[in-house]
Amino acid sequence: MRNVTLTTLLAGALLCLSACNQHTDKYAPNCTPVPNSYQAQQGTFSWQIATPLLVNSLTDTTIIRTALQPFRPEAPLTIMADATTSSTEQQGAICLQRVEHLQLSSDLITPESSSGSRQTNEAYRLEISPKGVTLQATTDAGLFYGLQTLIQLTDPSTGRVQAAIVEDAPRFAYRGIMIDVSRHFRSKAFIKRQIELMATYKMNRLHLHLTDAAGWRVQIDRYPRLTQLAAWRTDSLWQTWWDGSRHYCEEGTPGAYGGYYTKQDIRELVEYARRHCITIIPEIEMPAHSEEALTAYTELSCTHEPYKQADFCVGNEATFTFLEGVLDEVMELFPSHYIHVGGDEAGKASWGKCPLCQRRMKQEGLKDVNELQSYLIARMGRYLQAHGRALLGWDEIMEGGLAEGATVMSWRGEQGGRRAMESGHQVIMSPGEFCYLDSYQDAPPMQPEAMGGYLTTEKVYSYNPLPDTLDTAHNRPLMLGVQANVWTEYIPTEEHLEYMLYPRAIALAEVGWTQPEHKSWSDFRRRMENRETDRMLAAGYHPFDLRQEIGSRPESRQPIDHLAKDKPIQFNAGYWKKYPANGEQTLTDGLRGDWTYGDGHWLAFVSPKRVDVVIDLEQPTTIHRVYADFMQICGPGVFMPARVLISISDDGEQFTPLQELTYPVVKEGKASFHRFGWEGEATTRYVRYQSFPDETYGGVHFIDEIVVE
Ligand code: ACM
Repeated sequence: MRNVTLTTLLAGALLCLSACNQHTDKYAPNCTPVPNSYQAQQGTFSWQIATPLLVNSLTDTTIIRTALQPFRPEAPLTIMADATTSSTEQQGAICLQRVEHLQLSSDLITPESSSGSRQTNEAYRLEISPKGVTLQATTDAGLFYGLQTLIQLTDPSTGRVQAAIVEDAPRFAYRGIMIDVSRHFRSKAFIKRQIELMATYKMNRLHLHLTDAAGWRVQIDRYPRLTQLAAWRTDSLWQTWWDGSRHYCEEGTPGAYGGYYTKQDIRELVEYARRHCITIIPEIEMPAHSEEALTAYTELSCTHEPYKQADFCVGNEATFTFLEGVLDEVMELFPSHYIHVGGDEAGKASWGKCPLCQRRMKQEGLKDVNELQSYLIARMGRYLQAHGRALLGWDEIMEGGLAEGATVMSWRGEQGGRRAMESGHQVIMSPGEFCYLDSYQDAPPMQPEAMGGYLTTEKVYSYNPLPDTLDTAHNRPLMLGVQANVWTEYIPTEEHLEYMLYPRAIALAEVGWTQPEHKSWSDFRRRMENRETDRMLAAGYHPFDLRQEIGSRPESRQPIDHLAKDKPIQFNAGYWKKYPANGEQTLTDGLRGDWTYGDGHWLAFVSPKRVDVVIDLEQPTTIHRVYADFMQICGPGVFMPARVLISISDDGEQFTPLQELTYPVVKEGKASFHRFGWEGEATTRYVRYQSFPDETYGGVHFIDEIVVE
């Protein structure tokens, strides 16, 4: 099934595409991402198997052939000496012209015109008339994207395409996906298939997270233990491995799970991506998330202990010899301008005690471990720069001072990215709230286990990395674009990974390509439901089907009125300030939470006590129900309570138990929600609600509302 290519995707099992032929609106309905300017004209053009394609000699025909592969792989391609072919030659033909300057009649904003950045120009002009098609662009990428549009506009069963003038350019130069191939290694064939799909939707950067604790995934000749040992483990499930030994095993061990890309594999992938106008950006994590490298080469951590350290020793020169040696081979393999060095989530714990790190800090005048991390990043940045490359890192690279020339990938919200722009650094936006596709995309109880969170396709689609308030002449050239990230701790199979990717990544592709005024969620959803999902399914992909979407948590859809709403509430134990929601009002504000504890309606309680609150109904009141909902998401340590106690009091001091509930807490794969409540009849002024953690799992308790009826 996985060998099916986009050829079948477009040629087979397609829905009615004739809608685009009747279309006379300003914008093309059946093209994703939506072009920024589309004007329907009279008549249709017929693109048949024998329809000639004329290209001029500047054009890289490997890229053109790649673009045609899904629809007209055998199309006759003629190379012309000159871009301006005669009208007789053009009759009935598709003429691809790589031109010096692209004349656009519409006032399109392109990343180049708005920023003068050094990115390639991906704009194109497509004129489809009954007599022929002319596609113009200044680059092969522009021609490639023009062909993607032409193919999407063509009815595959008849070859007919509505006459139109399309003038189009991306909103942002960087439109990416990150795939974590460390937690679970993904085959070369799988990566190629994602490249094909990305190219269809005009995405142009594939960031591979090649190294992390769970496995090193790229052959480095100078350091063979990285792939002889650190690419293999015996537990296939990440969670089992992480909760268990976290050990590696030798390549060839019976049952060894993992793998790595050989240099030949990488060259093949890089070339495959190039032909799809996609740059592969390698990520080599440093200084943290490096347990695997530090077990293969123990001398590079502060304590030299295998399986104990996640951070490189920054005081040791051998660390730099190693990292530079690795980057030498990485740069030789990947032509990408950007080399991603990670930089996220360093614990830095060993650095404070390590004599070499302490000496380095003294010598370099570094006042804390953040500056020590910054020293490493800046030094690697200079190394990359000396080799004509640029450093890209997660937003933690700003802590301790951002290295000159570094580009920031903002994931902990957008603040990091905004601050980086203020100081003149380039930015790629990838905030968890909009871009982390390892979150649940629909009602968690009905979904395979995920990291947590709740990120719908609609929410991804709503993202605007450069809203009007930030869209200034200063910021525009600094905002490179957007990236969707898929971390794979809970995504063991390739099918599951595709399910998490699509259609959310396609929504982000449209965020990256289409100007906000041409975007429409209802139209995007229609395109996914009426066409793209079936195209993907027919080609053997495994997208989530928006037609089956359950949507938000029913309780969250409207406010609830009840006896405790807006009543005084006393907290006998404080809530966890990391998730403040609506503060002390959260539990009595009549608003219940959605499928994620991060939505501002769920209040967190953590050790030593959990929930212990008293609601004052202000007068003796007859009550019939008291309840609150809890959630459990084991990955981030959110657990059900083992016990809940609901009690009442007339004076707020002496409480009588009304209901004690126990719950058999078990560690489960999937997120779950459970209601803990009492029903009956009682008269009281005060209601106390308490939760108690399970002895084994403990965990954070989240509740959104204590309802009294
Ligand atoms: C990250 O999600 N740790 C970049």
